Amino acid sequence: MEGMEYRRCGKSGVLLPEVSLGLWHNFGDGDDPAEGRALVARALELGVCHFDLANNYGPPPGAAEERFGNLLQSEFSAHRDEMFISTKAGYLMWGGPYGDWGSRKYLVASLNQSLKRMKLDYVDVFYHHRPDPETPLEETMQALIDIVRSGKALYAGLSNYPPELYAQACAMLREAHVPCLLHQFRMNLIDREPGASRLAEAVRQGTGSIAFSPLAQGVLTGKYLNRALPADSRAVRDNSVFLNPERARQSDAKVQRIVDIANQAGIPPTQLALRWLLCQPGLTSVLIGARRVSQLEECAAAAGQPPLATDLLQALDAGM
Ligand SMILES: NC(=O)c1ccc[n+]([C@@H]2O[C@H](COP(=O)([O-])OP(=O)(O)OC[C@H]3O[C@@H](n4cnc5c(N)ncnc54)[C@H](OP(=O)(O)O)[C@@H]3O)[C@@H](O)[C@H]2O)c1
Repeated sequence: MEGMEYRRCGKSGVLLPEVSLGLWHNFGDGDDPAEGRALVARALELGVCHFDLANNYGPPPGAAEERFGNLLQSEFSAHRDEMFISTKAGYLMWGGPYGDWGSRKYLVASLNQSLKRMKLDYVDVFYHHRPDPETPLEETMQALIDIVRSGKALYAGLSNYPPELYAQACAMLREAHVPCLLHQFRMNLIDREPGASRLAEAVRQGTGSIAFSPLAQGVLTGKYLNRALPADSRAVRDNSVFLNPERARQSDAKVQRIVDIANQAGIPPTQLALRWLLCQPGLTSVLIGARRVSQLEECAAAAGQPPLATDLLQALDAGM
């Protein structure tokens, strides 16, 4: 698989590729369907066999699962057993009291909808997308346990859980013999916390871990630095609350330092950012969001590389 390496996901039987592909901002109705098809095909060639979705990915919500499902059905169904597919529920998906957060009612209904959109009988991982301060943790975990027991998901996962809550949730799942497979959280070179604490807790719990937005949504490629914002980039195109032109530039000083270190080391900044994460003890995979095949290829090339030298890691730590 062209240099891909696979890492054990905590103490489970599952191996995940060092680089996984998310379909958050690249599989919506406004994205080029041909590029989407090419991304899935190239990902499989590169050994990037883990595809991450959520009920609300698009836009509009549901569009990414729909598009991915159509592709699976029309072209990639023979590869289903080579793929590791996740989806999630936890953010607003539909109106009224049952389309958000963490009730059993919402999680079960949402997964049924996701399976329909993706034309699948089961997903490999079903995540609770974010903690719900109002619903008892027991109810949310029981929903995950029952979902796994129903066969609609092979494993349960959690996302964006603070360490103490993660430990409590893992204990409940373990007790029911449906151990949490992995934690999905944000972590990258310029946003190290709260990811680092979440990673440490995942290691303590013996679960896997996967870091999303490893390039800070593209900022760590250096493409927003000291120049006009690239016209087809996420910061300009989506102009979302998550990455707008102002946010894309707010870490310029740090990014410049990282780009300088990368240039000195002769490593492309994109790959340095991903390889730094892959050096964090216990991390299973980095979850990228490539929009073009060329971006996917550049990111996938970070896999299977030797650990970064100690002096390079120290330089990346200095002043961050
Ligand atoms: N659990 C959660 O709460 C949560 C939250 C967010 C994301 N996620 C997951 O994490 C995945 C990845 O998140 P992300 O999309 O923010 O990851 P990311 O890898 O930090 O950013 C991806 C974006 O960076 C740009 N990019 C990537 N490679 C590039 C390259 N070589 N050169 C120039 N630009 C490049 C592209 O954007 P443009 O070309 O459009 O600028 C691409 O869409 C999502 O798809 C989703 O599955 C989970």
